[in-house]
Amino acid sequence: MSDRQLLVSKIENGIVIDHIPAGKAFLVLKMLKHEPTARVLIALNVDSRRLGTKDLIKIEGTYLTSKEIGLIALVAPSATLNVIENWEVKEKRRIEVPEEVEGIFKCPNTLCPTNAKYAPPKTKFRVEMDNGIETTKLHCTYCGSILYYGAVLDYINSDAFSLEGGGLVSKEKINQVFLDVLIKKGALRLAPSAKEPFVLKSGRPSPYFINMGALTDGESLAKLKWAFSSYIALMLEQGQIEDFDYVFGPSYKGISLATLACEGLNELYGMHKRYMYDRKEEKAYGDLSADRVIVGAGYFRSGQKILVVDDTITTGATKIETIEKLKLLGDQKVVGILIAVDRQEKMDEEGEAQDKSAVEYLEETLGIKVFSIQNIKTIYNLIKNSLDEEMRRLWVDYYKKYSTVSLE
Ligand code: CTP
Ligand code: ZN
Repeated sequence: MSDRQLLVSKIENGIVIDHIPAGKAFLVLKMLKHEPTARVLIALNVDSRRLGTKDLIKIEGTYLTSKEIGLIALVAPSATLNVIENWEVKEKRRIEVPEEVEGIFKCPNTLCPTNAKYAPPKTKFRVEMDNGIETTKLHCTYCGSILYYGAVLDYINSDAFSLEGGGLVSKEKINQVFLDVLIKKGALRLAPSAKEPFVLKSGRPSPYFINMGALTDGESLAKLKWAFSSYIALMLEQGQIEDFDYVFGPSYKGISLATLACEGLNELYGMHKRYMYDRKEEKAYGDLSADRVIVGAGYFRSGQKILVVDDTITTGATKIETIEKLKLLGDQKVVGILIAVDRQEKMDEEGEAQDKSAVEYLEETLGIKVFSIQNIKTIYNLIKNSLDEEMRRLWVDYYKKYSTVSLE
């Protein structure tokens, strides 16, 4: 593409919806959720080899759900979706018309079960699009009524239109907002000098300390809720973890993270999960036997699935204990572990696990995927220019000794 043609600037992270039929950009934009502060670029009637003229939308820090992509197809089937990561087009998707749309449009038949006053089922329409977009018909799978294309467009344009779920945020955006909170609220603490490192539970003399205990004000909690639930919703949409029933937070620090994540998934993404946490000391009385150790276990049914959330990971020993404790529930499956910050350290400096990070070791021994919202290499790269020579040495040497990643 020559510079002359580059009308709107490139973006660093986010999505570009290209090849939208000219005149449809605002309709497409109306269907998508994005953060109110997200940077959005819209180009109307620009030249296109394929279409003559086209519209184009770029949204920074956003990622789309398959539901949103399906909806775009209903008004702009020729569009392409580009996922941009670190200035590069990472994924190019041709938008496909879905076979069915669920829970979005209303059935025009007032007697349809989906219009019942009490506990109506979600609407579901079969999409018929044979000869061009204007002939599109949506067939209600409950009563057979037809929603014609004009009515579909009118509905999208109306105030009644809203999309449950959707509005996913890109990983980069979550990384960045989360790091801002860590720094702004003093949760990332740097050793005052190279001679006074923090001594960790593991005995390691660390140049820094992540103190999630600093994130106790309401603003931080709101950000934690947003970051954890957005990250989980994205992992689910991208198929990185299986769907699950419970968010589990190991006591004590994990408890608030689990409650926040669970609430955020409901409020921001319309997902219904429960949370559980463990007691450090077993209760000597009580109802269900597992409830003595795991609070919330009373709802647990055999075969259900669990996502574990926690603040950090250093050697991984605590995570192994957690996984052991969860076996008290009986037949259960942990679909993954999500931590706020991965310190990217080894479990042991010597012995069988010496060339593996704690995360790699956990993934291999337990067969459970571990994800992190932030990791220390990214954090270091962002702060290293503000460190003096001696402190930088401390970081580099520490990571040489205790980690599998190298800093410079
Ligand atoms: N884009 C962007 N920011 C980037 C990279 C790409 O905004 N960092 C946009 C481009 O401006 C373009 C779209 O993403 O509108 C797709 O990029 P690319 O595949 O490089 O362009 P084309 O080859 O023109 O795409 P296509 O083959 O889909 O026509
Ligand atoms: Zn109906």
